[in-house]
Amino acid sequence: MMTATTTYRNGQLFVEDVSVSALAERWGTPLYVYSRTMMGNQIRALAGAMAAVKPLICYSVKANSNLAVIDTFLKEGAGLDIVSGGELFRARKAGADPARIVFAGVGKTQDEIEYALKEGILFFTVESESEAVRISDCARRLGVVGRIAFRVNPDVDPQTHKYISTGKKENKFGLDLNRAAAAYAQAARLPNIELAGLHIHIGSQLLNPQPYAEALDKISGLCRDLKVRHASFQYLDIGGGLGIDYKPEQQALEPAQFAAVVLPRLQALGLKVVLEPGRSLVGNAGFLVARVEYVKPGYDKQFVVIDAAMNDLIRPALYQAHHEILAVRETADRITGDLVGPICESGDFLAADRELPAVGPGDYVAVRSAGAYGFSMSSNYNSRRRAAEVMVEGGRAELIRARETWDDLIRNETMFERRG
Ligand code: LLP
Repeated sequence: MMTATTTYRNGQLFVEDVSVSALAERWGTPLYVYSRTMMGNQIRALAGAMAAVKPLICYSVKANSNLAVIDTFLKEGAGLDIVSGGELFRARKAGADPARIVFAGVGKTQDEIEYALKEGILFFTVESESEAVRISDCARRLGVVGRIAFRVNPDVDPQTHKYISTGKKENKFGLDLNRAAAAYAQAARLPNIELAGLHIHIGSQLLNPQPYAEALDKISGLCRDLKVRHASFQYLDIGGGLGIDYKPEQQALEPAQFAAVVLPRLQALGLKVVLEPGRSLVGNAGFLVARVEYVKPGYDKQFVVIDAAMNDLIRPALYQAHHEILAVRETADRITGDLVGPICESGDFLAADRELPAVGPGDYVAVRSAGAYGFSMSSNYNSRRRAAEVMVEGGRAELIRARETWDDLIRNETMFERRG
């Protein structure tokens, strides 16, 4: 699985049938490179494993929100999971059918709710009783019906990094299971509200499927009860979270393993199933390519200084995340040290205290598993322009986002004295 899209040919790294150094020469670095073929393969594998319940797979746009990536999944028949008005705007620009969009998030504003109601999305996943009231108010004003699925917090441990665990009782997400029945009863009395279903999302980067089983077992009684009470209650959205292999020794949570655990439970409930995968569809389909600027000896290790930084890929700094580092020109030689960027922060590293390929100035490196939460979490810190993005399919490569210009950096700024 791990090297499905990358191979060395004559000592040069390829993504599908395209040489990575040719891409770097053509479009410059730092450069995000995505394999469209792998994205398609990933969603088809999940759809195949879950075919018994014919799920609506709503690609989680936050993982990688480039229009071409969204379009790739739309062409595979996916719906979308969004978390902001901005993501709804992107979804619509990419041509998504609103009737296949679900909208999550703990802090939806009135403007965002109205925008989504006007577009006619499938449902909102609702995080609190007060949010249901707000959706009802907005829907009444607009003369439409707001479909909702309360997000229930089942209080299970997803066994993942604490920053990406979302279904434990100390997390801000979802309604306490003990409060959920009352919240539904209360929402059933609200005008212009339809109870469409129930939502859980317990965390991200789960490698063990058991927490899904535990969560489903905890909510199944409530689902059965709601289905009997409300004819409109049709959907069970079980979120995303399937983990990928960031390290060679890791095993991704494969669709078949996931399906083996969730399918019997879902079939017993007989509700329409929605999934919201992000990382598992795009994570290992993306690479961040950078050029080595310097190799600088430290007291007891080497610092390989590249032209990509924490503003391009923040996961190592934020979660101590591990990303494999590949030399674009194959080498068996290794050095020990840190792969760092030019930003003025000690946290600016893409790999720390690692065995790295022995590269030198002018060489290119590829940071693996950067397709999810890579570009979408990037910033302009240190007034760095955000990277370009390229999509590859077979032997074809297309620029899907141009590198920002210096003018882009100051586009929305004005001098104080110029304001009226
Ligand atoms: N659905 C909901 C409601 C979510 O909050 C998320 C992710 C997903 C679906 C998609 O989860 P996935 O299948 O990608 O695990 N920035 C972090 C990950 C944050 C995940 C946030 N929610 C990282 O880089 O690891």
